[in-house]
Amino acid sequence: MKAVNVVVYGMGPIGSAIVRLLNTKQWARIVGAVDVDEKKAGKDVGEVAGLDRKIGVVVSRESRKLLEQTSPDIVVHTTSSFLPDVYPQLIECATAKADIVSTSEELSYPYTKHPDLSRKIDETAREHGVTVLGTGVNPGFVMDTLAVVMSGVCQTVDSVSAERIVDTSKRRWQLQRKTGAGLGVDEFQRLVKEGKIKHVGLPESVMMIGSALGWSLDDVQEEITPVIAEQETRAEYAVVRKGNAAGVHQIARGIVAGRERIVLNLMMYVGAKDPRDSIRIKGVPPVDLTIRGGVQGDQATAAIVVNSIQNVVASSPGLKTMLDLPIVHATG
Ligand SMILES: NC(=O)c1ccc[n+]([C@@H]2O[C@H](COP(=O)([O-])OP(=O)(O)OC[C@H]3O[C@@H](n4cnc5c(N)ncnc54)[C@H](OP(=O)(O)O)[C@@H]3O)[C@@H](O)[C@H]2O)c1
Repeated sequence: MKAVNVVVYGMGPIGSAIVRLLNTKQWARIVGAVDVDEKKAGKDVGEVAGLDRKIGVVVSRESRKLLEQTSPDIVVHTTSSFLPDVYPQLIECATAKADIVSTSEELSYPYTKHPDLSRKIDETAREHGVTVLGTGVNPGFVMDTLAVVMSGVCQTVDSVSAERIVDTSKRRWQLQRKTGAGLGVDEFQRLVKEGKIKHVGLPESVMMIGSALGWSLDDVQEEITPVIAEQETRAEYAVVRKGNAAGVHQIARGIVAGRERIVLNLMMYVGAKDPRDSIRIKGVPPVDLTIRGGVQGDQATAAIVVNSIQNVVASSPGLKTMLDLPIVHATG
């Protein structure tokens, strides 16, 4: 394994989980961390990430200065979901000649929604000889890359569907909040309209699958409705009363020549029954895969980010997606 110096950009729950995992890898050295949150800045990274020891690296609020001082091989970037928000951060890291693996959902397949930003990121990455990848559990794996990999055993593919059902009861409060757990239905609908309640990245997964299969998508449709609680449920952070929203039901469809050929069905709610991930491909031969219990999102996101690092460091420069890199796998 190549020795890699890492800066962690964003020390929320996901950045922290990544720090804890990196801490177990002999090839990885955390040389810096950035976060704007004043409660984290100035503290040791080990302390912020929940390690039982200090690692001798302090969280900084000044990304530019830190990147100059540390010259990392790669930045692990976990600040926010939307490409216009993270764009300046990505450009800053790429200009500092650092590869990037980011959990920004819109970066996982950014070309359709943000063609100009995608082009500029790609140009900047090539100019500075670095690679930029967006990944995570979803988008990044369970509802897109996994479906694409499973299609590798099909001679023909007629349609692809994926389902992910997540019980958010014991998950981080950010996830319960952004899936609307505990809200009245009217409030839920209002926040959906404002774009504040949703899982970001489902259309990106549709587009990634379409691109891999060579399907030209006429349209990508998305629908967001509440899952209504049938009884009162107490989650780790939210209390969900009967009749209120327990979470979100989101469907994204990829339409090809007037027909639904990709359907992604995501339910994330407090008290979800029978959590699972499944992929169904109608084709020759058909594929019907179910992961019982579903893949634990936060652990999986930290894993796929860390497991991608060696691929990203070895990759040719430019903006990449999971379709461009060799298969990501666990090591060590
Ligand atoms: N692709 C996937 O499968 C996947 C899976 C999990 C998470 N995600 C995404 O990954 C991101 C991180 O998740 P999270 O739960 O850890 O989010 P989070 O709780 O919002 O943490 C992000 C951290 O980054 C900080 N931050 C925000 N903007 C910053 C900036 N410009 N410079 C430096 N620090 C900044 C935040 O500080 P403040 O709190 O002060 O703003 C916060 O400490 C989110 O966008 C999430 O949606 C993706």
